[in-house]
Amino acid sequence: MSETPWTPDSWRGKTALQQPAYPDPAALSRVERELATYPPLVFAQEARALRERLARAAAGEAFLLHGGDCAENFTDFTAPRIRDTFKVLLQMAIVLTFGAAVPIVKVARMAGQYAKPRSTDAETRDGVSLPSYRGDIINGIEFSGEARTPNPERMITAYHHSAATLNLLRAFAQGGLADLHEVGRWNMGFVESNPLRERYQEMAERIGESLRFMEAMGINSDTAPVIRETSLYTSHEALLLNYEEALTRRDSISGNWYDCSAHFVWIGERTRGAGDAHVEFCRGIHNPIGLKVGPSMTGDALIRLIDALDPHNTPGRLTLIARMGAESVGAVLPELVRTVRHEGRAAVWICDPMHGNTVATASGLKTRDFAAVMRELSRFLDIHDAEGSYPGGVHLEMTGEHVTECTGGAYGLSEADLTRRYRTYCDPRLNADQVLELAFLLADSIRTLKSRRPSSR
Ligand code: PEP
Ligand code: CO
Repeated sequence: MSETPWTPDSWRGKTALQQPAYPDPAALSRVERELATYPPLVFAQEARALRERLARAAAGEAFLLHGGDCAENFTDFTAPRIRDTFKVLLQMAIVLTFGAAVPIVKVARMAGQYAKPRSTDAETRDGVSLPSYRGDIINGIEFSGEARTPNPERMITAYHHSAATLNLLRAFAQGGLADLHEVGRWNMGFVESNPLRERYQEMAERIGESLRFMEAMGINSDTAPVIRETSLYTSHEALLLNYEEALTRRDSISGNWYDCSAHFVWIGERTRGAGDAHVEFCRGIHNPIGLKVGPSMTGDALIRLIDALDPHNTPGRLTLIARMGAESVGAVLPELVRTVRHEGRAAVWICDPMHGNTVATASGLKTRDFAAVMRELSRFLDIHDAEGSYPGGVHLEMTGEHVTECTGGAYGLSEADLTRRYRTYCDPRLNADQVLELAFLLADSIRTLKSRRPSSR
């Protein structure tokens, strides 16, 4: 498969699932041509730097924190929302760095996460059927014929929103928000009496103490910029191939093609057919890429996909995002991990404990229970430990907004609480308190695993 010629548009000859039916092909081509003239959103060298960091995760020397919105949208596009999600990522990263003593690679589901796969093409309300909402890059969420008709102009809006989001993220990462002296101010928890707040503040004080000690030794933000700055990479599902193709550029340094819409893109669970368009597109770009791996995956099918997507077995190139569900992970994941290891593949395994644990409440809201999320995550860690493989990271749907979308956690959010602040456009996200709780539990587990395998990390 890797021998067949690839071009940015070679996916067009394959089956492309989950694509919108644009009513006006001429308008679509116009938008594609326009987007192809726009500046890239990211630089190939940055994507290569991320690949190198992911290679360290593959070797058990770093841990990937991959998280953000299920779906960004054009309406909630505000600086506080972007800042708060970034702060939650920073907060979680520092808990893991401090608690588990492991370098964290931060990749946000932001600045381009606008296209959503759907289980049905149409939605029916009161006898009226309209195209399903597929994300703001494709159509509007409002239930009207006009909003639901796929409009290619939305790709231009998505590009500009992504550019502005990325600009702000870069400013936050480099301009002071990520300064380790600010750790105490990243706390986003909204439950006043959160005992984890105290644990967090205690950690912040210890970091402050270490910084003061280092300053006395002459190590400060000027001599060690890592104290003041961080690197945050962007990512989204490479679902809408017209958009991804239009932003794919040949890098003048390496001569290789990069999808410059984000540093990292992934192939979703519903579009990972080995001979299909999404795999075809992603095999030719040189970005680090992800592949969702759900419970229907078999060892043979996985190796075929790895052959297609990472034929040279380049460390950091491919991240396998296991999203099995707490009930299936124990039955399915061990054999897949074993197969990948026996075949000597360099891929990084990370755990998405969200997408296999989505359930509907009696009132029809989608939710996820914190306990199920934690169960899947700990099983994932145990399985890697038992198989002698490295658990390379975690993939979360989370937000800095004070939402009530997932049940459970230290405050025992119940189904009845969900309607208080249920704001997602798609899947239920963990809120800042739930993320902090998960971060502390995860840091403790990684520390335990490390003490059992002292040679790792
Ligand atoms: C997602 O990550 O939002 C998603 C749709 O996941 P999956 O493809 O694993 O269902
Ligand atoms: Co989702």
